[in-house]
Amino acid sequence: MLNKKKVLITAGPTREPIDPVRFISNYSSGKMGYAIAEAAAEAGADVILISGPTNLTCSSKIKKIDVITAQEMLDAVMAEITNCDIFIAVAAVCDYRPETIAANKIKKNTVTLQLTLIKNPDILAEVARLPKRPLVIGFAAETENLEANALKKLLEKKLDMIVANQVGKNLGFDSEENELVILHRNTQPIKLARNTKAKLAQQLVALISTL
Ligand code: PMT
Repeated sequence: MLNKKKVLITAGPTREPIDPVRFISNYSSGKMGYAIAEAAAEAGADVILISGPTNLTCSSKIKKIDVITAQEMLDAVMAEITNCDIFIAVAAVCDYRPETIAANKIKKNTVTLQLTLIKNPDILAEVARLPKRPLVIGFAAETENLEANALKKLLEKKLDMIVANQVGKNLGFDSEENELVILHRNTQPIKLARNTKAKLAQQLVALISTL
């Protein structure tokens, strides 16, 4: 179905260091992104998986590149994006990072501690802005107004498709199952009912291969 198509996928969280022993991150386990990578490889694609820190492994037919920060993920994506047919951004990239990284462990000798955060690059938006861009598919992790917020991201980031999932306590992040709503420009939303991430990944890849 995706015979010899070059598919680039981001997965997992990023970590943004505060000092040598601490970081800002999120609850992404990488399970959704890895499942999509496996399903795409199974469908015949040449898959490159750019992964933030996770406990997962992937099959040997997938080329995996490990990164830690959002900037490293962006650099790895841009190094691999040439001749790519499909880009799927499943990673939960930290939107902000500490402006400075303390050289030594920060001591707890004040009652409050202020961190200044600055915006990270938006990897998905940067890929969508490339002059010779692949098919660009984003994910949207939302705690409220799922479809409206996802649609806003689809339009603002100029994506071809967005896959929305409701996230919260035991939902979306680090769970075995998920539930997806797929939004395209000018078409009705497609709902993929609650299922394992592996099964949803197969359904999603089948749908992508029809585009
Ligand atoms: O990893 P799991 O535990 O299996 O959980 C799966 C998941 C919930 C992480 C996954 O299904 C998911 O929703 N991934 C996207 C999470 C997210 O960061 O969504 P967002 O709405 O904040 O970002 C929108 C899109 O922009 C995403 O495609 C994201 O990869 C991308 N992005 C965001 C910020 C940024 N600086 N660069 C990006 O590329």
